[in-house]
Amino acid sequence: MTPELLSALTELEPIVGRELNRHLDAAKEWMPHEYVPWSRGRDFDGVFGGEAWSPTQSAMPEVVRTALVVNLLTEDNLPSYHREIHRCMGADGAWATWIGRWTAEEARHGVAIRDYLMVTRAVDPVALERERMTHMTHGYGRDGEPDLFDTVAYVAFQELATRIAHRNTGKASGDPVCERLLARVAADENLHMVFYRNLLAAALELAPDRTLTAIWDAVFGFKMPGATIENFSRRSLAIAQAGIYDLRIHRDEVLMPIVRQLGLLERSGLGEGGTRAQQALGQFLEVLDAKAARFESKRAAVLEGEARRQGDAPSRITQ
Ligand SMILES: [Fe+2]
Ligand SMILES: [Fe+2]
Repeated sequence: MTPELLSALTELEPIVGRELNRHLDAAKEWMPHEYVPWSRGRDFDGVFGGEAWSPTQSAMPEVVRTALVVNLLTEDNLPSYHREIHRCMGADGAWATWIGRWTAEEARHGVAIRDYLMVTRAVDPVALERERMTHMTHGYGRDGEPDLFDTVAYVAFQELATRIAHRNTGKASGDPVCERLLARVAADENLHMVFYRNLLAAALELAPDRTLTAIWDAVFGFKMPGATIENFSRRSLAIAQAGIYDLRIHRDEVLMPIVRQLGLLERSGLGEGGTRAQQALGQFLEVLDAKAARFESKRAAVLEGEARRQGDAPSRITQ
């Protein structure tokens, strides 16, 4: 680790301690088992000789099944995220306490979502297990040397993205039990976002140019941590078409709240690197706005076409 990064770890440690305490005060203990409708469960085939899974056993819309699998596989890769964060935040003091606590909270998400999916038979358990094996074997890793600024910038946006993805998946599910569970998970993700966002604000005070450059890199190259899941592009397009997570949501509900909260576009007194990053960020958000509008109008046209075809179908049959 470079001397610059080592010194940033030391300088930011009191902030990590303060934010950790704030987090522990705000976080409410919750029990994943209480959110799972166990009475809806029954044995599967195989060891217990129960009933094999079939897609007709759940009324969950196909796109919501897709979103749930993507969300769960993303949570499943926690050992890789833990390794990455540990690599750049170190194993001492408040940093280590935070990493431990954060990891324990994240682990609860995968446990609860998997239990829900198995009990309700919403997704194919064999396909899910095979995907989990592939996805976790591949793991998750960021390119290059560990960098505290880059990592904190990325996770602040990523936690908010995860919060929104869980929340909207729950809303689209049509199952109040699923929605309640995912709202609970999303509340954890929100607290994680607040932690990292406040840490990012402190990093901005400590090293404004370096932090703004890191934020710009995180925004420009943003990829969901589940991007290495098989068929991720096809699946995320379906998720976007359903309005669960699309470009508009990404820009307006993930990027902009943090950009605004930290006053990134209005910040003055920056050096050359910071100013360049700030200008690039402003322009990028405008471009994204236009792209999001194009996607929305294309999607509206597709939906209108589908509705028209469905409306036509009965009349064609009666002709
Ligand atoms: Fe999570
Ligand atoms: Fe999280």
